[in-house]
Amino acid sequence: MSNKHILHVLKKLIKKYPNSQKCHSVLITHVLPTAESYIHLVHEVFPVTLVIAIPYSADLLTIKALREKGIPVYLPEGIDEAFLYSGKKIQEILEKDETPLLVQEVGGYLAGCCDNLSKFPHFLGIVEDTNNGHWRYQMAGVHSTPVLSMAQSPIKDIEDTVIGDSVVYSTERIFREEFNGILQGISCGVIGYGKIGTSTSIALKGRESTVMVYDIDPARCIRARLEGHRIGPLKTILSTSDLIVGCTGKTSVRKEDIPYIRDNAVLVSASAKNEEFDLVAFANECTCEKINAVVWRYTQKNGHCFYLLHQGTPVNFRDRSILGYILDMIYAELFLCMHLIAQGKIESGLHHSPLSIHTEVAQTWLDVYEPSFACTQEDKIWTYPDSLHTAVTRTFLLQTTQELVC
Ligand SMILES: NC(=O)c1ccc[n+]([C@@H]2O[C@H](COP(=O)([O-])OP(=O)(O)OC[C@H]3O[C@@H](n4cnc5c(N)ncnc54)[C@H](O)[C@@H]3O)[C@@H](O)[C@H]2O)c1
Repeated sequence: MSNKHILHVLKKLIKKYPNSQKCHSVLITHVLPTAESYIHLVHEVFPVTLVIAIPYSADLLTIKALREKGIPVYLPEGIDEAFLYSGKKIQEILEKDETPLLVQEVGGYLAGCCDNLSKFPHFLGIVEDTNNGHWRYQMAGVHSTPVLSMAQSPIKDIEDTVIGDSVVYSTERIFREEFNGILQGISCGVIGYGKIGTSTSIALKGRESTVMVYDIDPARCIRARLEGHRIGPLKTILSTSDLIVGCTGKTSVRKEDIPYIRDNAVLVSASAKNEEFDLVAFANECTCEKINAVVWRYTQKNGHCFYLLHQGTPVNFRDRSILGYILDMIYAELFLCMHLIAQGKIESGLHHSPLSIHTEVAQTWLDVYEPSFACTQEDKIWTYPDSLHTAVTRTFLLQTTQELVC
């Protein structure tokens, strides 16, 4: 492990919060080289009984390294298998061993089997990382086990502002390497103007592409326009864009939309899993050819074709997605959420991570990465009205001192 993957914030928090409940953990996560340090640090506190690797973001060398260090890793063949077997694998662990167990996952893989898992009294609950997973837990109804989601936390918001850059970085790499093309001057369509769509549009504009946005929510379309993008209905986006980036987290391009896709357009997903485009309809309506490991060509009956990158899974995972101090912040929040679940402090059902965790992660991050904050603890009172009180007291003290001096 090289220094570049050291997670300073997470390390600090891990020292502060030991595992007094002696519980173990299962991680359903992206096993990229950037995740290796995180998994080892979690293992120090909540021994990791199993890592379930998300298939589209699994790095084989990292899996090998984890296994060599004694951490078992299960790599499902595809996303469907991950949904089918994740719950079963965890159930097997719970049946064999009565040590308290918690799960940290990315993507709602357990949303359909919470009730089953909650039958084991030593199953403590789940921490969820992403919006896609959060929506799955929401849709699955009432849960009889604690599910703590950080998907909509302000810390996650910060991460989302840089996801667009990583999506555009990976797209641009493929454009250059596989299409001999560049992003400057091309017409890009962004579908979905939420957190990821917004940061992707900004990143594309920064590459000097022309951006047109469509969102199913009219208010979002207006926001996109007022933030400087062209807007248009889906069919206009599909028929005029050289590059189409799906950022909805839902299925935005369906069977009936296929004929509108511009000849030779490139489709990319920024959303989780492989749900952004109706891949079954693509396969049924078009002749499909694998050009290489990252590019697939779909040819329609009228001879028009379009290209799909990375099999419709989030393209940025090809280049490790998010790195460095942003990842440190995300892992730190996940760890504090795991600690809350371990302590039994979260009731059954789906909950958002609390303000206390956001504050602790942000303050620790500033201490580590902006040391000037660490040196001024006395005048850094973050909570209102304490901050006001401090300011008033300070002004009073200052005035009194000045009067005494006079
Ligand atoms: N690639 C990554 O590294 C990464 C990182 C974080 C999140 N994600 C994923 O990105 C996706 C989007 O997340 P988000 O946080 O931006 O969600 P969001 O809710 O903020 O935004 C989604 C937007 O899509 C719009 N939308 C929904 N269905 C649509 C449709 N059919 N057509 C057009 N617009 C539609 C919604 O109105 C909304 O504005 C999720 O799958 C999330 O898990 C990916």
